[in-house]
Amino acid sequence: MKTLLELRQVSKHYGQETAALSDVSFNVKEGEFVSIIGPSGAGKSTLLRCINRIVDASGGEIFFNDENVLKLDKAQLKRVRRTIGMIFQHYNLVNRLSVIENVLHGRLGYKSTLAGMLGLYSEEEKQQAVKMLNILGLQEHTYRRADQLSGGQKQRVGIARALVQKPKMLLCDEPIASLDPNAAKTIMDYLKTISATMGITVLVNLHQVDVALRYSDRIIGVNKGKVVYDGSPKEMSSSMIHKIYGSEAGELIFDHGGQNAG
Ligand SMILES: Nc1ncnc2c1ncn2[C@@H]1O[C@H](COP(=O)(O)OP(=O)(O)OP(=O)(O)O)[C@@H](O)[C@H]1O
Ligand SMILES: [Mg+2]
Repeated sequence: MKTLLELRQVSKHYGQETAALSDVSFNVKEGEFVSIIGPSGAGKSTLLRCINRIVDASGGEIFFNDENVLKLDKAQLKRVRRTIGMIFQHYNLVNRLSVIENVLHGRLGYKSTLAGMLGLYSEEEKQQAVKMLNILGLQEHTYRRADQLSGGQKQRVGIARALVQKPKMLLCDEPIASLDPNAAKTIMDYLKTISATMGITVLVNLHQVDVALRYSDRIIGVNKGKVVYDGSPKEMSSSMIHKIYGSEAGELIFDHGGQNAG
């Protein structure tokens, strides 16, 4: 499979003192499902934000679909961002709008500011939005206000909104951190199915190691802004978990077959 995303020695400093990312390099293939794990403050959100330039990396190179992301001008960046969907922990829906209006917001990257403000969507765009709501099991909720939904339903709206962009990749920053285990499973199952059936690459920040192990083709472990693991979930060991999370946290988070007992 083709490489869709490549990071080469990416760094990000906030001000003088905080090095949020240092020398981060990895590749992601088309259709791959990759989880990024690591302790709080490791740089996971910064990493996702650098990829679509919500924040600008301080150094290094990022290639997405053969384009050098850090060199794009404003119009080129707008075009590239259409093909990268974002999923957020707190959903980022407009509460007073209906579910379908929120989903249609995924099309704003294709419009002029005025057309977007006036809510001028084509019949085809509306049909796409309805189709995505069906795929995500939200058809009964199409015209409800977004703030009347449960967290799991709101996150499904977030996914539908990302899908109407016709993305090549989804960047998901803690998509299940605010959900109970059942809703979390539903969301992870949808993301996995979407990746498998639509060929969409998924890059997801997770706090739950067990979820990352279960769903990912590959896991990237980040500690203090550096990649300390990049490999298959199958080869993940308890000592590697220690390395990613630091020795104190390792045993609390994950016991790989009982070696740590006693
Ligand atoms: N806008 C910002 N300004 C200054 N420092 C920042 C900013 N955003 C993040 N940082 C710092 O960069 C480092 C990495 O933060 P980041 O949010 O990427 O970590 P994270 O792995 O996503 O953490 P969490 O698991 O808690 O979400 C931290 O030290 C954080 O304090
Ligand atoms: Mg974060």
